[in-house]
Amino acid sequence: MAKIPQQEIDDIRDKTNIVDVIGQYVQLKKSGSKNYSGLCPFHNEKTPSFSVAEDKQFYYCFGCGRGGNIFSFIQEIEGLSFVESILKVAEIEGIEVSEQYRNVSVENEVSSKQQQLIQLYEKAAEVYHHMLVNTALGETALDYLHKRGLSDQLIEEFNIGFAPNQRDFLFRVFQNESLDSEIFPESGLFVERENEELADRFYQRIMFPIRNFQGKTVGFSGRFFATEDFNDQDQPKYLNSPETELFNKREILFNFDKARSSIRKSGTVYLFEGFMDVLAAYRSGITNGIASMGTSLTNEQITSISRLTQELVLCYDGDQAGIAATDRAIGHLQEASQLDLSVVSVPEKLDPDEYVKKYGPEGFVSLLEHGKETVFLFKMRYRRMGKNMSNEKEQVEYVQELLHDLLDVDSLIEQDRYLTQLSTEFQISRETLQQQLRDLKQQRRSKEKAPTPTATTPAQEAPQSSVKKTKVQKAEELLLYRLFNDETLNQRLKQSQVTFFHEVYQELYMLFDAYIESEGEFVLAKFLDFLKDDRMRNIVSTIASLKVPEEGSQQEIEDLLQVIQTSSLVEEINDKKLKLQEASQKGNQQVELGLATEIINLTKELKQAK
Ligand code: UTP
Ligand code: MN
Repeated sequence: MAKIPQQEIDDIRDKTNIVDVIGQYVQLKKSGSKNYSGLCPFHNEKTPSFSVAEDKQFYYCFGCGRGGNIFSFIQEIEGLSFVESILKVAEIEGIEVSEQYRNVSVENEVSSKQQQLIQLYEKAAEVYHHMLVNTALGETALDYLHKRGLSDQLIEEFNIGFAPNQRDFLFRVFQNESLDSEIFPESGLFVERENEELADRFYQRIMFPIRNFQGKTVGFSGRFFATEDFNDQDQPKYLNSPETELFNKREILFNFDKARSSIRKSGTVYLFEGFMDVLAAYRSGITNGIASMGTSLTNEQITSISRLTQELVLCYDGDQAGIAATDRAIGHLQEASQLDLSVVSVPEKLDPDEYVKKYGPEGFVSLLEHGKETVFLFKMRYRRMGKNMSNEKEQVEYVQELLHDLLDVDSLIEQDRYLTQLSTEFQISRETLQQQLRDLKQQRRSKEKAPTPTATTPAQEAPQSSVKKTKVQKAEELLLYRLFNDETLNQRLKQSQVTFFHEVYQELYMLFDAYIESEGEFVLAKFLDFLKDDRMRNIVSTIASLKVPEEGSQQEIEDLLQVIQTSSLVEEINDKKLKLQEASQKGNQQVELGLATEIINLTKELKQAK
C-alpha cells in the first residue's frame, strides 16, 4: 500500500482548524480564550466535558479520557482508517490532495476494483430482494419471514432477499454487465464448476446482505430455505460469502453500521449470536444490537466496539452451546478490552429471536432491562454445570475456579459480597477465602511483571483517567507536560537518567525522545500522529490538557524528578514490609530476618536520594 507522503499529511493538518471540523459534529461553545467545549460525541453525558484546544489543535474528553488530533477524531467518529481520515479531512476542508499522490496510490487502483465489487454486491442484493418481495418464486420464503415476525418494513430496511433454486440465476443477471473479467470469480458470489464455468454459490436461500462499517454491502449470508420439493439435509443452515478483499470475517460485525449511532447514544451495545436475533431485537426497538459472523469474537471486533462504548451486554442463546460461547466471549473480552460486561441469559434455552416470538417485544425488552447479571454471577452458574456439587472434590474445584474469577471483579463491594456468599454456601471461613484470594492476586501480579532487566520499575497498569491519581503519577504527568511545552528540558532529564515509575509513562517518554530525535521541534498535533496508538494518544491528550500554571520553574523540575526517582524505592519497601508481615504471621524467622535487613538497606538508599 502506497503511503501518503508525510509532507502531504502535515500540510493537510496545518491547513485545517480542528475547531471548525469538530464543530460540524459537536456543538462547541467558547470556554476560556483558547478552548471550546461541548458534549462528548464518544460517550453519553449531560454536562459538557469534551474540550477542544485551538492553539494546540487537539481535543480531550475529561469524562471518558479520549483524545487526539483531527485525524484521530475523524477516524473514531467516522470509523475510518488513518489514511481514509486524512482524505476525509482534506475533503471537508476542500484541500486538493496532490495529483502526484493520487497517481502513486495503489489504494486507488484497489479501490476502483473494490468499487466494482461493491457495485456487484449492491446490484445482487437488489435483485435478490426483488425476487423475494415481488415474484412468485419468492412467495413462500416471504410468507415464512412474515410468520417469523419480520415486517415488510424490516425486510426493506435490511434489504433481505431470496436466491431461487437455479444455479445460473445470478450469473445470467450479470451476463451483459461490463465489469473487469476478474471481478466475477473474485466476488465470491460464484463457484467454478468442473467445466470451468461459473455457477451461483447461493441458491434456495434467504439472503442477508452483509454491510461493512460504512454501510456498503460487501458480502452475503444465505439461510437455507427448505421446501417440500427441496429439502437437502446436507445443506448448511447458513452459508456465508467466502473471504474476499472486502469481506473479512475477523472484522465484520453484522449491523454495526446501523447500530453505531444508537450504541454511542445509549452507551451500550448488545452482542448476539445470530442475525435473526439482531433482527428480533431491532423490531423490538433495540437498535443497538450486533452479531459476529458465526465465529468467536476477534480482537479486531473488540477494538471496534470499544471505540464506541464502555458497556457491553452479552445476549447469546440460552442453550448449552450458547452458555459455553458466552463464557468464551467473556474471556476474550476481558483479555482484549476494558469494557464493562454483563450477561443476559435467555430462559428456557431459547434464543433471543424465539423469546421475542414467545413473549413479544415487550417481554424481550423487559428481559434485557431486568435480566442482566454480573459476569461473576454468570460464572457461578456456569461453573456449576456438569459438576456434581455433592461431591466434595468437585465442590473444592468449584470454589477454586470462582476465586480466580473473583480476581476480575473490580468493585470491592461486589467482591466482598461474593466472598460472603461463597463462605456461607460452602461453610469455609471468610478469612481462608480471603487469604486464598490474596495469594492468587500475588501470583497473578508476579506473572504480569514484565522481566525488564534494567528497570527497577514494577509493571503497572495504565493509569485510568477516572481513578484518583497518586502523587508519583501526578508528578510524572506534570513532568511530561513541561516537556511537551519545552523540549529543551529533555537535556536535563537525560542528565539525571530518569526512569519513570509507571511503564506507560516511560514508554511515552521514549516515544517523545524518538520523536524529538527525528523532528527536532515538538508539535503536539503532529506527535499524536506519530504515536499511532489510541491508548497512547488518549494519555498524551490527558497530559496536554492538565490544568496547571503556565510557567514551571527550575525548582519544580527538581522536585518532580525527586518524587519519581524515589517512588520506586518506596514501592519496593512497602512490598517488602507486607512480605515481612506475612512471614512473621507464619513464624518464618529466617525469611523475616532477611526481609528486615533488606528494608533497612532500602530505607538508607531512600534517605540518601532525598
Ligand atoms: P443459529 O443457528 O443460532 O442461527 O446460528 P439463528 O439466528 O438461530 O437462525 P434461525 O433462527 O434458525 O433462522 C447463529 C449464527 O451462527 C452462524 C450464523 O452467523 C448465524 O447467524 N451460522 C450458523 C453459520 O455461519 N453457519 C451455520 O450453518 C449456522
Ligand atoms: Mn433462532
